[in-house]
Amino acid sequence: MISVDYSKAAGDLSGLEPALSQAHQWLQEATGRGNDFVGWVNLPRDYDREEFARIQAAAKKIQGDSRALVVIGIGGSYLGARGAIDFLCSPNYNLKKKDTPNIYFAGNGLSADYLQEIMDLIGEEDFSVNVISKSGTTTEPAVAFRFFREMLEKKYGKAGAAGRIYATTDKARGALKSLADAEGYETFVVPDDVGGRYSVLTAVGLLPIAVAGVDITRLMAGAADMMETCRSGEFRQNPAWQYAAARNELYRSGKKIEILASYEPAFRFMTEWWKQLYGESEGKENKGIFPASVEFTADLHSMGQYIQQGERHLFETVVRFGPSAAELKVPYDQGDGDGLNFLAGKDMDYIATQAMDGTLLAHVEGGVPNIILRAGEKNAYTLGELIYFFEYACGLSGYVLGVNPFDQPGVEAYKKNMFALLGKPGYEDMGAELRAKLGK
Ligand code: PA5
Repeated sequence: MISVDYSKAAGDLSGLEPALSQAHQWLQEATGRGNDFVGWVNLPRDYDREEFARIQAAAKKIQGDSRALVVIGIGGSYLGARGAIDFLCSPNYNLKKKDTPNIYFAGNGLSADYLQEIMDLIGEEDFSVNVISKSGTTTEPAVAFRFFREMLEKKYGKAGAAGRIYATTDKARGALKSLADAEGYETFVVPDDVGGRYSVLTAVGLLPIAVAGVDITRLMAGAADMMETCRSGEFRQNPAWQYAAARNELYRSGKKIEILASYEPAFRFMTEWWKQLYGESEGKENKGIFPASVEFTADLHSMGQYIQQGERHLFETVVRFGPSAAELKVPYDQGDGDGLNFLAGKDMDYIATQAMDGTLLAHVEGGVPNIILRAGEKNAYTLGELIYFFEYACGLSGYVLGVNPFDQPGVEAYKKNMFALLGKPGYEDMGAELRAKLGK
């Protein structure tokens, strides 16, 4: 269960209830702006069981025949899986001794050195590829896929490579779907009515997460339970309503930047996922909270100064988890050279809690309102709850803000310029114009 404590962020939020109620109805009945893209709302209940079983079978096969899996995708086709694997299996997952394959993420940028490094790390090891692109035409993953497909085909031959490539894409359209059908790759579907940033609980996220050894049924169970909670039309019963209301109220009072904070290093990439979810859903029509993130306590030693005393346009949302699995007590030291014997025998969780509480008071007194999200223990079920909670609150929040939370028209601008500068057929005139602007 997730609870939202906004007592250190906002007062009475009842003024926002009519707008929330309307937003809730739009999501539940698929009648608001962008209603073609609300397939994620009931997904934890309605997901395709047959495909889910194929995902589990494919994960098992990959675990059996590969020492590495290259997951190729960008944005919504990348961040959820990366965040979940970091959080549930550790950011050091690839370094750990384990029975599951290493997982390398590619196609999330255009760095030649980064790509080369992954190819070198795989070396002679057996590997498979999961290429993920809803449109099937995104440049970064498509380019990366060329390299890894070539590598697979050289190593295993065309037919052998085809048996190691898993394509997650549109059910009928796009270059990747056509290629997969022509080459005989196993395919998984990104549903038409689920946009990239809401797709982590589809095959987009589930296949890589399952390959890493996570119990994806627990992930879906957490999401399904949160889905039920979020169906409530009662402000007090619905944590997504409370979070959406608090952050909209803060935005209206001039707090234009939200920092998502956690004291878990393993949660860092989930905050990247959250930034895309909220930034792409709300940042449009010259509106929207700017989503930022920090990892505490590390960033208290870098961003702490700004948060405490910089411009007062910030608020924080802090995710707190239940007890750690490891019980670590600070060792006693006879000499006490570092003066830390007052902590000897104290549990690390206890120390972290005091740091959280101390930081909370300092930041709130410094003019940075804090919303606290209390989540359960760090496991797949809790992550499923959190993912759905953030998605639902994001849909509500975008509607309350007055935007369509399910489109992303602004993402196209850089793509057009890049195509023009690369000389893509059809963009010739634009390319000449841009080169002139750049003085090239
Ligand atoms: O949320 C989005 O729409 C984007 O981040 C996309 O997921 C990203 O651009 C990748 O698109 P695609 O899956 O079509 O390759």
